[in-house]
Amino acid sequence: MKKISLGTEGLKVPAIGLGCMGMSEFYGASSEQQNLKVLERAVEIGSTFWDTSDMYGPFTNEQLLAKSMKGRRDKITLATKFGVSRGEDGSWKGTKGDPEYVKASAEESLKRLGTDHIDLYYQHRMDPNIPIEETVGAMAELVKEGKVKYLGLCEVDAETLERANNIHPISVLQTEYSLWTREVEAEILTAVKRLNIGFVAYSPLGRGFLSGAIRSRSDLEPGDWRLENPRFTEEAIAKNIELADHVNEIARDIGVTPAQVALAWLLSRDVDLATIPGTRKIHRLEENWASQDVSLSKEHLDQLDDLINQEIEGDRY
Ligand SMILES: NC(=O)c1ccc[n+]([C@@H]2O[C@H](COP(=O)([O-])OP(=O)(O)OC[C@H]3O[C@@H](n4cnc5c(N)ncnc54)[C@H](OP(=O)(O)O)[C@@H]3O)[C@@H](O)[C@H]2O)c1
Repeated sequence: MKKISLGTEGLKVPAIGLGCMGMSEFYGASSEQQNLKVLERAVEIGSTFWDTSDMYGPFTNEQLLAKSMKGRRDKITLATKFGVSRGEDGSWKGTKGDPEYVKASAEESLKRLGTDHIDLYYQHRMDPNIPIEETVGAMAELVKEGKVKYLGLCEVDAETLERANNIHPISVLQTEYSLWTREVEAEILTAVKRLNIGFVAYSPLGRGFLSGAIRSRSDLEPGDWRLENPRFTEEAIAKNIELADHVNEIARDIGVTPAQVALAWLLSRDVDLATIPGTRKIHRLEENWASQDVSLSKEHLDQLDDLINQEIEGDRY
């Protein structure tokens, strides 16, 4: 198993983690029974870096993980998030990062997760009305109280990351990064390297698109959030599918799957990086996990570089 050290505070995780969001929301229906089976298998194979958030469900994803972790909490490196505020009815209440909200959110997550500590606690999105120093100050108090071990931020810019890191060491920046989303290469990856902060790449399979399994909007269930996403209009899919098809050709050439190429490409980046592909299926969990054993030749990396320098149709949100 490939383990990666993230940040300066001692966080060590399997390079291939498990994104749990889709088990509860956004990507179509799923069953709790099936999700628990996937989580069970994840523990068996060692895929124990689990990623959730209070807002997935909302709230039910943390409860799902609590069920699976019962009696074996110590086996899991548990990451959750606060900051995107939602109501029980699923309504959206904006981003929040004031110290009282941070403290209250952590208490609620701990209760739902059925644990006395969160391994990695992220701010999910920055609150534009609260200086990052105040939010991270409150997060640092949670570390002092033993409720949280490591701190993370999502989707912040380099300057915010540095300011946050001056208040308390930030172990991880989590941001979208994949073959079709490479914005972080412009500035962010240089910043995390300079500041000794680890990087967690989310949506590494392009929300499933890079696997080639989504070839038209009809491949998505009614209510699937991707139907609202600019990269999943019929026009965008028709253009972007060329990229997925090329990834598939390279995968066939090597004798692996396109998802494995997408994940192996991420793991080949010159940065301390883990990634958290999401799935509700055991065979895909195993497939994604096995990507850590896939090595891409210089020729294949060059081919992928040529491909992904093409323009992608549609914003990522
Ligand atoms: N910090 C943030 O703001 C943020 C934002 C988005 C996501 N995240 C985190 O990142 C995690 C992963 O991102 P994501 O779920 O958005 O996208 P992703 O991992 O890029 O893709 C997930 C999608 O790909 C499908 N899939 C998974 N493995 C596959 C394979 N081997 N072959 C074909 N299809 C496959 C899944 O379908 P099935 O489930 O049917 O297998 C699912 O629809 C989330 O679970 C969440 O924890 C964080």
